[in-house]
Amino acid sequence: MTAILQIAPLPIPADYPLPQDLPIALLSALPMRGQWLAAHGSDVRAVVTHAGAGMPTELWEALPNLELIANFGAGLDRIDLEMARKRGVRVTHTPDALTDDVADLAIGLILSALRGICAGDRFIRAGRWAKRSMSLGKSVTGRRLGILGFGRIGGAIAKRADVFGMCVAYHSRNRKEGVRYAYYRSAGELAANSDILCVCTPGGTQTQNLVDASVLKALGGEGYLVNIARGSAVDEQALLAALKDGTIGGAALDVFENEPAIDPAFFDLGNVVLTPHIGSATANARARMADAVFNNVRAFLGGLPLNDLAA
Ligand code: 8YV
Repeated sequence: MTAILQIAPLPIPADYPLPQDLPIALLSALPMRGQWLAAHGSDVRAVVTHAGAGMPTELWEALPNLELIANFGAGLDRIDLEMARKRGVRVTHTPDALTDDVADLAIGLILSALRGICAGDRFIRAGRWAKRSMSLGKSVTGRRLGILGFGRIGGAIAKRADVFGMCVAYHSRNRKEGVRYAYYRSAGELAANSDILCVCTPGGTQTQNLVDASVLKALGGEGYLVNIARGSAVDEQALLAALKDGTIGGAALDVFENEPAIDPAFFDLGNVVLTPHIGSATANARARMADAVFNNVRAFLGGLPLNDLAA
């Protein structure tokens, strides 16, 4: 009997030992998905998915005896948590496995945007170095970093920014107990008081287009937007316009509205650094994430307590 349905392959290291002890069927590899679900859907007690794939809506009906969704990733914006609660389905995720690596990438993007690391690489490869110098960058030390969404990842970025001598402030729905950084009551106020605005919020409807044209205007012509969270938190057309007309100075983006088919308008802009959603994409973090997912599935099957319950 197949107790576990995995929605799509997990982006894990090639040498990660797949869990032979778990009866997993891979939905995306099934030739006749509809027929399989009709025949076996009621046997499925747990779903394994990743943040990009989420829980496809049609599966709620096809899996009447579902008890657990184990998500490979921190973000739960593609899983209907309301429905999970209503159905009594528990949902786990893997936030601690990736916090440090995502925070590292945010710092890398900040350095790259302000110091022209990617631009410098392009400059050399294009054979321009012998002809002229590259334009000057900006110091990171002393810059004001606004962290939008102060969860685990936001906190880890702040810790790193401290070491770089940056001046950290933040906005989140509520002021955080025991956090010593300046708190601003809105994204716009934070942007107006930041040189770099780093988006660290969850995705989903609550943060949809949180960074809109007015926030970008407040960030200003010398300001930079960094996004390691979700493309949906930024009004992408407003961002493209702001990058083109100099409303903001530049951006460094790991996430986009339509991934992986991102808006080609980004390709023509010299003031934006682009990475393909690689915040957690280290072999180390991905192995930790897989361990966390499969350990939760094993705990579930054994009737033991689960880690990192989100619903
Ligand atoms: C992964 C992510 O890229 O954790 C998240 O929310 O978006 C990333 O860690 C993802 O889990 C792979 O789809």
